Amino acid sequence: MNKRIRTLLVEQPLNTKVSIKGWVRTRRDSGSFSFIEINDGSCLANIQVIAGNDLDNYQSEIKQLNTGCSVSIKGELKESPAKGQDVEIHANEICIVGLADPEAYPLQKKRHSFEFLREISHLRPRTNALGAVARVRSRLGYSVHRFFQERGFIQVHTPIITTSDCEGAGEMFQVTTAEEGKSGSHFFGRQAGLTVSGQLQAEVYALSLGDVYTFGPTFRAENSNTSRHLAEFWMIEPEMAFCDLRGNMRVAEDMMHYLLEDIMVSCAEDLELFNKFIEKGLLEKLGRVVEQEFAHVTYTDAVDLLLKAKKKFDYPVQWGIDLQSEHERYLTEEVFRRPLVVTDYPATIKPFYMRVNEDGRTVAAMDILVPGIGELVGGSQREERYDVLESRMVEAGIDLEEYQWYLDLRRYGTVPHAGFGLGFERLVQFVTGMKNIREVIPFPRTPGSAPC
Ligand code: 4AD
Ligand code: MG
Repeated sequence: MNKRIRTLLVEQPLNTKVSIKGWVRTRRDSGSFSFIEINDGSCLANIQVIAGNDLDNYQSEIKQLNTGCSVSIKGELKESPAKGQDVEIHANEICIVGLADPEAYPLQKKRHSFEFLREISHLRPRTNALGAVARVRSRLGYSVHRFFQERGFIQVHTPIITTSDCEGAGEMFQVTTAEEGKSGSHFFGRQAGLTVSGQLQAEVYALSLGDVYTFGPTFRAENSNTSRHLAEFWMIEPEMAFCDLRGNMRVAEDMMHYLLEDIMVSCAEDLELFNKFIEKGLLEKLGRVVEQEFAHVTYTDAVDLLLKAKKKFDYPVQWGIDLQSEHERYLTEEVFRRPLVVTDYPATIKPFYMRVNEDGRTVAAMDILVPGIGELVGGSQREERYDVLESRMVEAGIDLEEYQWYLDLRRYGTVPHAGFGLGFERLVQFVTGMKNIREVIPFPRTPGSAPC
């Protein structure tokens, strides 16, 4: 039976017939033998295949194999005398499935820059680093569902096309039909766009089903060309009824611990690669995060710490500013040196739906900042009081009629509730140490990115 290389390396059924399919990484000839390294994407490791000149197609085909060719191999799994590998395959049959012209194939056995690899996003998952990112990303996604499902959360598929701009930042891409597009931006006669967050619809379901979550693509038409912004990214958004800011923070921290603990075991080999070539000390960093409680600080205290800092910031600090990346990174990397939960931001810089605190000027918001990245999570307790919410919406210039359904949630059986959004790509960056967010999503969408 055809087996994935990962399974073969774990099970090691020595002296049995095995068959694999994959892509040639390298071929080396020595005397009457060729040593071929095969990778099938199931794991970082290649498996070595030994082909002798007794095979029918040895001269005509096997000796022509080069990096990138796809092959199907049958043989016997043997203990390997070579260093660095436990097993190897002694081939009885090697069929070439697809050739790769060595003159034209862009991936040669050398290190390519990530910038270059971005230009060939259709081939880059064949490299060690990008293949490892894809496996880590897949496992983290699986783990997110496991975390919530184990705790009884119900997954809700919130819409991609919507009329509501949850964050109110005017960063929605507009959606239009081809015909209507000629005359303006419309979706069957209504203004609509791509969702910036599934939160408002998740609130609907939280106020019917209790604890829910949504995990899907979100879109921001912000023209920011940074190493942590994408125009299309994935967000994990739990929403919990009968929950306050404290409970919200607890879930976020528990989730982070759960995800990191799992990935360190399930993708240990891939993380070692990142630890060696991408971020020295990555494993130690992740291990520390798993063991430690997150630090907590209010926005007001954080601003005090920034004002007292010896470091000079490009963007001047004063109470009321939106914390910039340089401030966030200073707090989490140099002051607290661990993930940091900042709470109770000024109401003026946060969206209408956040619950107003007793002081009347701050809201029950939380951002989680992590070293190397800055903001990873943004969340809050939601305003459950009809009157307060309505006046916040009026202040924000929101059309109340459009949002009557949202206000209704406060009219019929309102409850305290809370939730957050965790940027999935920023999490993958944190776990892999990848410097640029464009490396952790298969097909990055940024201003000027190449379509594929
Ligand atoms: O802080 P944000 O804008 O919060 C919301 O959208 C809330 N409605 C979420 C909620 O409470 N359910 O975004 C949440 C997270 C950020 O902390 C960040 O990690 C990520 O989403 N994010 C981005 N990631 C990549 N590219 C962008 N342009 C991002 N914008 C936000
Ligand atoms: Mg935010």
